[in-house]
This record gives sequence, structure tokens and C-alpha cells, in this order.
Amino acid sequence: MNPDPSGSVDAGAFRAAMGRFASGITIMSTMQGGVAHAMTANAFTSVSLDPPLVLVCVDYAVRMHDAVLERGDWAISVLADTHREIAERFAKSGRDLYSQFDGIGTQPGPKTGCPLIEGALSWLECRTWATYPGGDHTIVVGEVLSLGTGEPDDPSALIYYAGGYRALKGR
Ligand SMILES: Cc1cc2nc3c(=O)[nH]c(=O)nc-3n(C[C@H](O)[C@H](O)[C@H](O)COP(=O)(O)O)c2cc1C
Repeated sequence: MNPDPSGSVDAGAFRAAMGRFASGITIMSTMQGGVAHAMTANAFTSVSLDPPLVLVCVDYAVRMHDAVLERGDWAISVLADTHREIAERFAKSGRDLYSQFDGIGTQPGPKTGCPLIEGALSWLECRTWATYPGGDHTIVVGEVLSLGTGEPDDPSALIYYAGGYRALKGR
């Protein structure tokens, strides 16, 4: 513990502190003008049960930002440990939008048509319910339109912790 007496927060120290908060990993997807957008996101959480709401914090600087705000509906796929390469691919800045899904199995969400990653531990389709400014991100709150869970055989979850991917065993 080394609190900084000046009260200012260093970006690296902020990342390191937040990195100690283990999270799952998701792929957020949407469709804009017939093009499928997707990105790796771990700033995802549930908000409310009634109505069912979740949120994702989306960086102003990513292509997903304007795409998801314009489209208004989107999907979340919760990744399994077997999806590490997918998480890495969809976190790479400037990847080619038109080939980014090559070799990856997807299914269109039943309500939105947004791509869902095959083998996801669970998936949700959402319609934007509210947006709030959050510094250099927009907090996008979505009402859940439909959802599902994957095979009930306890696959390992993909976890992000201390700057790296880990597997969390099902049992
Ligand atoms: C583990 C991990 C989690 C991430 N979570 C988020 C997130 O919650 N929100 C976000 O806006 N970007 C997040 N990113 C960064 C985006 O995935 C990345 O900036 C984006 O895919 C760049 O896409 P673009 O080139 O289309 O702008 C995360 C990256 C990693 C490696």
C-alpha cells in the first residue's frame, strides 16, 4: 500500500489496481449498415433485474462506439477459455472489419441479428435503454431482449486478471 499524498492518480497505477479485479471476458457486437462490428469488452456488468438491464462502458475512440449508438441494439457473448484467440483478435486496434470474423463460428441473434460467438458460455441481446457520459467512455445501458446459456457441461471460463488471460475451471 503506497497511497500518493498528492492525491493525483497515475494511469499505470490505476490500470494495475483495476487489473486486480478479475473479470470475465465478452465480445460485444452490433450491426451498422450491414457491417458486423465486434470488440472485446470486460467493462460489462448486470444492472437491474426488473427490468433486466446490463451495461458496457464503451471507449469514445473505438469504432464500436458510434456503431452501437447509431444502431441501438447489440449483443454480448460471454467467452469460454477456448476463445482466447477470439478475445485477442477483437481487442486489436484497427483490425480489418470485413475479415475480422473469418474462421470464427457465429450465429445471428434471434431478435437483433447481431453475431453471437459459437460456444459462448452465455449470450444476451440488448436494446440501448440509456447512455451516460463516463469520462473517456460512454456507459451504454441495455435492456435485455433475449438470452441463452451454452452447453451445461461446466466449460472453463475465460478470465482477465492482472493484465493476462486465465482459465477458471467449471468445477
Ligand atoms: C481484456 C480487454 C478488455 C477490454 N474491454 C474493453 C471495454 O470494456 N470497453 C472498451 O471500450 N474497450 C475495451 N477493450 C479495448 C477494445 O477491445 C479495443 O480498443 C477495440 O477492439 C479497438 O477496436 P477498433 O480498432 O475497432 O477501434 C478491451 C481490451 C482488452 C484486451
